Amino acid sequence: MNLSICLLPGDGIGPEVVAEAAKVLRAVADRKGYTLELREALLGGCAIDATGEALPAATTVACQAADAVLLGAVGGPKWSDPKAPVRPEQGLLGIRKALGLFANLRPVKVYDALIDASSLKPEVVHGVDMLIVRELTGGAYFGQPQGRSGNPPNRQAVDTTPYTEAEIARLMRMAFELARARRRKVTSVDKANVLATSRLWREVAHEVAVDYPDVQFEDVLVDACSMYLIRTPRNYDVIATENLFGDILSDEAAMLAGSMGMLPSASLGEALNQYGFRRGLYEPIHGSAPDIAGRAIANPLATILSAAMMLRWSFGLNMEADSIERAVEGTLADGLRCKDIASPGATILGTPAMGDAIVERLWR
Ligand code: IPM
Ligand code: MG
Repeated sequence: MNLSICLLPGDGIGPEVVAEAAKVLRAVADRKGYTLELREALLGGCAIDATGEALPAATTVACQAADAVLLGAVGGPKWSDPKAPVRPEQGLLGIRKALGLFANLRPVKVYDALIDASSLKPEVVHGVDMLIVRELTGGAYFGQPQGRSGNPPNRQAVDTTPYTEAEIARLMRMAFELARARRRKVTSVDKANVLATSRLWREVAHEVAVDYPDVQFEDVLVDACSMYLIRTPRNYDVIATENLFGDILSDEAAMLAGSMGMLPSASLGEALNQYGFRRGLYEPIHGSAPDIAGRAIANPLATILSAAMMLRWSFGLNMEADSIERAVEGTLADGLRCKDIASPGATILGTPAMGDAIVERLWR
């Protein structure tokens, strides 16, 4: 196999954590005799500095040419003026749209070794293992009209949340398919008591559910879901929802696991790569953490776990993905930690040393 991967290291700690994930991918490729073709491109603040655009055309082309994309993080105080004409986040939204990445998979798994990192009681979060499937190219993020008009005291702003039946159905199908490989339960989250888009969402979700009689299905309103997530999080297997609700709920769910430094994500589209798997963009869910950038203390595990998701979903390399995930668990069980998840008595590793620790444990 020739794994052609486009790296978008981005800003802040992005380059540091992507370097460790690349190290792990290289170790996997060497061991299996695959060639690894890594190409870097600019996205976010670094792209604005170099080209004036958050998503240069060359980056879109490089991503489209690759089998999969690995992203670090974008953004930072240097580019965060809300009045700036270009912002790093536009690069992220732009590449999702350009690659048609409609499904954002965010697994939230509570590791026993890290159970004390959560702000919730261990008995609440023990055993949590859920997958949030967030719609990523529709809703308020891209709906028109969007914008503002008028001058004080008559300023106005508007956002629009459009959804088509086709967009809802493909996301729900993805959720049901994923549930079949898990505990076979799908929870569709909406606000059908208020929003027209949510009523359509619920209707279409039920129609899709008919094709999956082997999967347990329920609807929950988004406000109630946000409560259940911290009360009885173990009840969830796959949560499927629209773009904005998914953005909010996935950050909430992330805190069950204690640290953002541990959680990977995958964004998948309809387009297939040369191996017949979905093209995808893989990224840690944490941000660019400008306060600790350049100090080699960032936790690379979320990015390394994102690389594992890439091997599974864009290359079908399930065994290799499992090896990486087991290596991460083994490293944690051995008491090795980065600073963000350090508990008393743990051995604290810097970013490259954590990458090495994973590589060492890959084939144990
Ligand atoms: C995320 C982020 C982005 C989003 C921001 C940075 C635009 O919060 O990936 O969840 O809202 O989608
Ligand atoms: Mg978010």
